[in-house]
Amino acid sequence: MECKVAVISGDGIGPEIVREAKKVMDAVAEKYGHSIIYTDVLMGGASIDVHGIPLTDQAVADCQAADAVLMGSIGGNTSTSPWYQLPADRRPEAGLLKLRKSLCLFANLRPASLYQELKKACPLKDEVIKDGFDLMIMRELTGGLYFGERKTVEENGVWKAYDTLTYDENEIRRIAKRGFEIAKKRRKKVTSVDKANVLDSSRLWRKVVEEVAKEYPDVVLEHMLVDNCAMQLVKDPGQFDVILTENMFGDILSDEASMITGSIGMLPSASLNDTKFGLYEPSGGSAPDIAGQNIANPIATILSAAMMFRFSFDLDQEADAIERAVQQVLTEGYRTGDILSEGCKQVSTSQMGDLIAERI
Ligand code: IPM
Ligand code: MG
Repeated sequence: MECKVAVISGDGIGPEIVREAKKVMDAVAEKYGHSIIYTDVLMGGASIDVHGIPLTDQAVADCQAADAVLMGSIGGNTSTSPWYQLPADRRPEAGLLKLRKSLCLFANLRPASLYQELKKACPLKDEVIKDGFDLMIMRELTGGLYFGERKTVEENGVWKAYDTLTYDENEIRRIAKRGFEIAKKRRKKVTSVDKANVLDSSRLWRKVVEEVAKEYPDVVLEHMLVDNCAMQLVKDPGQFDVILTENMFGDILSDEASMITGSIGMLPSASLNDTKFGLYEPSGGSAPDIAGQNIANPIATILSAAMMFRFSFDLDQEADAIERAVQQVLTEGYRTGDILSEGCKQVSTSQMGDLIAERI
């Protein structure tokens, strides 16, 4: 099979982690007889430095022309980087939001599970971890607060800022359907997370999710308020199967979920639309403080590449091979610094990539 992949290395640790994911993808292509054609695309700070804006129309077109996009991370230090002196719509993050919206990537899948090998890196106590956990955060990605109308105005000498949280029933319905579809193939439970005790958008969310649930009688639906969910994630993470939630709540809960897997460097993600096309990126950020030191954990990016093989190319065997290789390297005791525990062997970003690629 010939696969066209647009590659956004981005900023901070982005280029380092993407390099390792490509290494692993090339090993897969070689073993299973595929060819991968990469096209580099600039986004975020890397694009601002060249074009003055975080995402050009050409960059969007280059992504559209590919079968899938592999992305590292974008953004820099928000207090010191000159990128953050620019107006908000020209900062690095605006590029990512524009890309998500332009490609209609409304469904963001963020799987968080605990490898037994990483139990010691998990900050939770053994009696909380019990047999571990394996959950999927299904985050709505093109609506809500991220895309609502916003403005900052001065009224009678007082500055005032507005951000609006809007959802229509169609936006809720399509993400809910995706959530139930995924749950059907897993442990058949959806926890829909909202703030229906306060927000109108959440009350509509709940109503539409309940309607959709009727089409999936074999899937159990429960509702949970977002503050309670934040607590339950560290109290009893094993209770969750699919967490279905809106954009902002999903952003926050997925960082929390990543930490209980041991590190944010372990959490992959796929952003999908209604076709096979997808954007694959680690859930973590650009970590400018450790950029360029060859110490970042590339596993989330490598696991995101596995999701690309599975969802965009329908190559399950290849995706399994990547996930198995990651598992094997962890079983053999290799760790980057963020997931290091006693008795394990510390390796760099590039060594981790080599080790995983060799085991394909
Ligand atoms: C994420 C990131 C982004 C988000 C930022 C970089 C805009 O935190 O993918 O979770 O908030 O969606
Ligand atoms: Mg985030």
